[in-house]
Amino acid sequence: MSTFLDPRVDRKTDSAALAESLRLAGEDTRTLHSLVHSRELADITAVLVDEILFRCDPPGNTEPVTITMDVTRGEERRGVSFLVQAGRPLCLTDADANTPAALHIEFDVIDLVRELFGPAGPTGPGGPASRRTALQFVPESMTAEGVRPLGPIMAAAGTVLTGCSSDHPGLARLAVRHDSDKWGGLHWFAPLYERHLHHLRTQPVRVLEIGIGGYDNPAFGGGSLKMWKHYFPRGLVFGVDLFDKSGIDQQRLRTLKADQSDPAQLLDIAERHGPFDLVIDDGSHVNEHIRTTFRTLYPHVRPGGLYVIEDLWTSYAPGFGGNENPEACGTTALGLVKQLVDDLHYEEQPTKPAAGFGASLAGLHLYRNIAFLEKGRNADGGIPDWIRHAAGS
Ligand SMILES: C[S@@+](CC[C@H](N)C(=O)[O-])C[C@H]1O[C@@H](n2cnc3c(N)ncnc32)[C@H](O)[C@@H]1O
Repeated sequence: MSTFLDPRVDRKTDSAALAESLRLAGEDTRTLHSLVHSRELADITAVLVDEILFRCDPPGNTEPVTITMDVTRGEERRGVSFLVQAGRPLCLTDADANTPAALHIEFDVIDLVRELFGPAGPTGPGGPASRRTALQFVPESMTAEGVRPLGPIMAAAGTVLTGCSSDHPGLARLAVRHDSDKWGGLHWFAPLYERHLHHLRTQPVRVLEIGIGGYDNPAFGGGSLKMWKHYFPRGLVFGVDLFDKSGIDQQRLRTLKADQSDPAQLLDIAERHGPFDLVIDDGSHVNEHIRTTFRTLYPHVRPGGLYVIEDLWTSYAPGFGGNENPEACGTTALGLVKQLVDDLHYEEQPTKPAAGFGASLAGLHLYRNIAFLEKGRNADGGIPDWIRHAAGS
């Protein structure tokens, strides 16, 4: 018989267990086995269930369906009971072993850690090798006419199982789902992010985004942070904002209060939480702030990581410290990007200028309103002088 999680007590984050799960999910079976056996099954299950609730698709079945799940470790099992119904997010319901459920799902704990944090373990013909599902012909499954139609039960099971995987819908769908403005209407950045980030998706990345959203309203914002958390199943996501956004904190997502115009505050964050694989500036969009933030945080991006600047249009907006004249770009964000084009080629310039940021800039990808700066060593020497000086070569 399984021991059930009490949703009111057991759903708190165990960040230490989570961190270890994240780090070790990709390890060999023996290492993961010893981790999983060194912790309380209840703690590990709480971390896994938190992820399932966050990742699953929104329920589509109109009538309520209860789905139970057991996470097993040998003979030991820990149970949870999900309530699935359209119009409300998937949630846990008070339950005990006698709660009638329409469908029961079981996972071996190691398989579920791997399914969630990836890379996924060996699969059987119908999915993860240890997964077992069983329809329960309990009262909830019966109607006056006999057995309840399977459609809602299948839809509900599908909802729970979409949460049990590190697979993800595309970033555009995740942006819409989590209420980020990075795709649809104002901006069309999601496919560009997908182009530049897909190789990092299954890595245990550290992401820092300046600008959480919602400004001084504590109940709003966090859309893009949730999108990143969903997109990077093994990632840790940090968001920085001028305002206290701690109400948005959740497993693998931490908010920090700081002013991006103050290098000391940014440095403190970098020292405590960096280095980062990805830094995104979607904050004030004030040109001077963008330049200060870049100078301060770019050194804290690891080689191979990316620094992204959004909303470059403010370079032409005097209200944001921009300039309507494109040539007067000495203090704008696009002026910074134009300077970086030259920095990238510092070794090719006959005057041999100082490298600036060029020595650690491997590439620069510029699209309308967004720049992706790729960090990496850029010191291979320039074209030799004997080629450079040969006229017509
Ligand atoms: C455009 S919203 C961010 C949207 C969010 N990244 C998304 O995609 O869902 C900009 C946020 O930057 C914050 N912000 C404004 N000035 C700031 C500053 N000086 N330092 C840090 N954050 C700032 C605002 O409070 C606001 O919440």
